[in-house]
Amino acid sequence: MSKQFDLVIKNGVVVTSGDVGPLDIAIKDGKIAHLAASIPEDAAERAIDAEGAYVMPGGVDAHVHLAQDFTSGPGGVTGKCADDFMTGSRSAICGGTTTIIAFAQQNRWEESLLDVVTAYDRGASETGCFSDYAYHIIITRPDVEMLKRELPVLVNEWGITSCKLFMTYTAMQLRDNELLDVMYEARKLAVTTMIHAENGDLIAWLTGECGPPKSIHLELIHTAEKLEEKGLIEPRYHAESRPPIVEMEATHRAIVLAEMIQNPILFVHVGSASAAAVIRKSQTRGFPVYAETCPQYLHLTWEDLKRFHSPQCFENSKMICSPPPGPDDSDQEALWTGLRNGTFTIFSSDHCPFRYDDIRGKALGVLQHAPSMEGSTCPIDQDHVHDIVHGKTGHFKYIPNGCPGIETRMPLLFNYGVMEGRITPERYVELTSTAPAKLYGLYPKKGALMPGLSDADLVIWYPDGRMTPFSLTNDRLHHNVDYTPYEGMSFTNWPRYTILRGKVVWAEGQLLGTPQDGEYLKRKTSQLTTAAVRSIADDKRRVATWLYK
Ligand code: URP
Ligand code: ZN
Ligand code: ZN
Repeated sequence: MSKQFDLVIKNGVVVTSGDVGPLDIAIKDGKIAHLAASIPEDAAERAIDAEGAYVMPGGVDAHVHLAQDFTSGPGGVTGKCADDFMTGSRSAICGGTTTIIAFAQQNRWEESLLDVVTAYDRGASETGCFSDYAYHIIITRPDVEMLKRELPVLVNEWGITSCKLFMTYTAMQLRDNELLDVMYEARKLAVTTMIHAENGDLIAWLTGECGPPKSIHLELIHTAEKLEEKGLIEPRYHAESRPPIVEMEATHRAIVLAEMIQNPILFVHVGSASAAAVIRKSQTRGFPVYAETCPQYLHLTWEDLKRFHSPQCFENSKMICSPPPGPDDSDQEALWTGLRNGTFTIFSSDHCPFRYDDIRGKALGVLQHAPSMEGSTCPIDQDHVHDIVHGKTGHFKYIPNGCPGIETRMPLLFNYGVMEGRITPERYVELTSTAPAKLYGLYPKKGALMPGLSDADLVIWYPDGRMTPFSLTNDRLHHNVDYTPYEGMSFTNWPRYTILRGKVVWAEGQLLGTPQDGEYLKRKTSQLTTAAVRSIADDKRRVATWLYK
């Protein structure tokens, strides 16, 4: 006779975004079926003893780039995305993440968003996916008639209820009027508008790409100051071409645009204290602004970009992402505060994988790709700088932007956030699972443990002190990338089990899932974004109050 439940998790400390306590969890037909102080082992076909460890909803990583070749700029060179849905999601479940949201990206030469999504979805179906998955849409060609026609189809037929807009990258950057066009259409359908906030013109100018008007006087003033003119083009200067004020300005501008037309927005991958402060101020005024930060901004600084600095050594390209991490650890502290005090709604990986030793990856920025770029012993040859300056070898602007981190996201925040007392276990669950599920219309199917309603997606950690502490090496990870930015960092815990809709897909270092396990998720509109409070919406000084009358 079949048993009442398929699986019971015994002796765990169950954590949700609101509660923490000793409970058993029973699972039936892929759903959470029952939570109780004690559920008999023989009521289920199988039992797992959590041995007093934390049991939490599976991670929801709402920002991953998979099978998405990417033209980051201002160099405008396309890097090859190292992970597809199969390899990226494999890495996700080995790090406790059971749901991912990846980006279907419109290129400027593509007119139809529906065609973009159809092609992207075909790719995902071909490789399969170890985790459940959904899509955001990146809009780079915001033709208003097309948006009016296609956004409703994306929302209603595909369940794609969020779009990402770029304020930088030559190949993707939208002007203010284009940002407004998309926000205006998005607002009608409650499509969550995600903003990559960096002032692309400032970056291009600081890099030396777009000169001032060709008057002799101006050239004398400006060009002597730019990074290219000075020969400052090794990887570390990527960060110097984007000082935090570049992110702060764009963040402020996007808030002004969004507030003026009353469209809630979410800032992705916030990297600086100054941008976080602008967001916080707007939240305090009552405007619905949401924000995401990512592990690279808590654990890296400009110093990491200088670690192996020499003219010929491009090792530092491993840490290049946009926005860059902060100049020093004061930004990190501010971001930790933001994770605690609610400035940040979600914590995502921004897994944007490019292989290091691959001419289609990070090595795109190194035209004379030395066989070994490893280590700190690169010969320093000052003459070589001149070759670089004249474009004969590398340049940071050609290095694809992005760091891998889909598998390390959950463990990093658990080890350095929960275990070091920076955030509570409940806040951890909120940031990594519940809030992204709510923000992107997946709750309570995902991000919760509600009997009958929630999928049985779980992560079970090791009991305290059970795991032998270890230093991370890339060979522990399951992505298709040849490095991790977190090489050498210490861990004392890691997901012991990952469970996807009742199936154990990762157990004590063994991958048990398959690429056939993952299901596509049609999402609802956001369950978090709300209209602005009335006192704000009626303020004629900030809002075009006549717009919707
Ligand atoms: O450097 C990053 N963040 N990668 C590019 C993808 C993105 O989210 O902008
Ligand atoms: Zn971005
Ligand atoms: Zn990204």
